[in-house]
Amino acid sequence: MAGHFCFPSAAMVLLIFVCFVGRAIGGVYFSTLPRTLAVTASPKQGQVLMAGVDKLKVSWGLNQTEKEGTDEAYKKVKVKLCYAPVSQQNRGWRKTEDDLKKDKTCQNTITTQPYTKNPNPSSFEYILERDLPSASYFVRAYVLDGNDKEVGYGQTTDAQKATNLFQVISITGRHASLDIAAACFSAFSVVSLIFFFVKEKRKAKK
Ligand SMILES: *[C@@H]1O[C@H](CO)[C@@H](O)[C@H](O)[C@H]1NC(C)=O
Repeated sequence: MAGHFCFPSAAMVLLIFVCFVGRAIGGVYFSTLPRTLAVTASPKQGQVLMAGVDKLKVSWGLNQTEKEGTDEAYKKVKVKLCYAPVSQQNRGWRKTEDDLKKDKTCQNTITTQPYTKNPNPSSFEYILERDLPSASYFVRAYVLDGNDKEVGYGQTTDAQKATNLFQVISITGRHASLDIAAACFSAFSVVSLIFFFVKEKRKAKK
């Protein structure tokens, strides 16, 4: 009788243990990170920027309300461009996961910089990459410790990722229409070349 009870509970203990160890040695969970950085970016709420053309400026520093020494272990700051929820809908490849190793919210790194202590907030100017997809974005900065592990963050939007979003318009769409126009023109020139060639030949025959 005892064996019947024992086996499931042993399995359960093992399972919990495996989960616990997996969590401990596995990834960092976003929900566990303190929001200690104050991050601002130049685009205004709702502003529309062109990929490959427009620039944005990001600034970050320890939030002044944090206790002194909070940033003792801070070594680097990794600044990323992140998809707003409206641009994640029905797109599994941009899905938010609490495990940062699996998280697809922030796929484009703007820059990684050494962390400098306040009162010298750092900033970085970034030209939006040409191949950025059209979407609604915000900026998030992760703080990394000496082992390149995330230990804090800051972002330009609120916890619900609803405020202070900006739009990026991709120019790849414009490229496609340019390509179509170019193809039409070259088809047209080939046709007209044949037309004139035939016409000249007929003239010569007469
Ligand atoms: C700094 O932290 C306080 C308290 O958590 C918060 O209310 C405030 O919005 C933060 N400031 C910035 C710029 O993130």
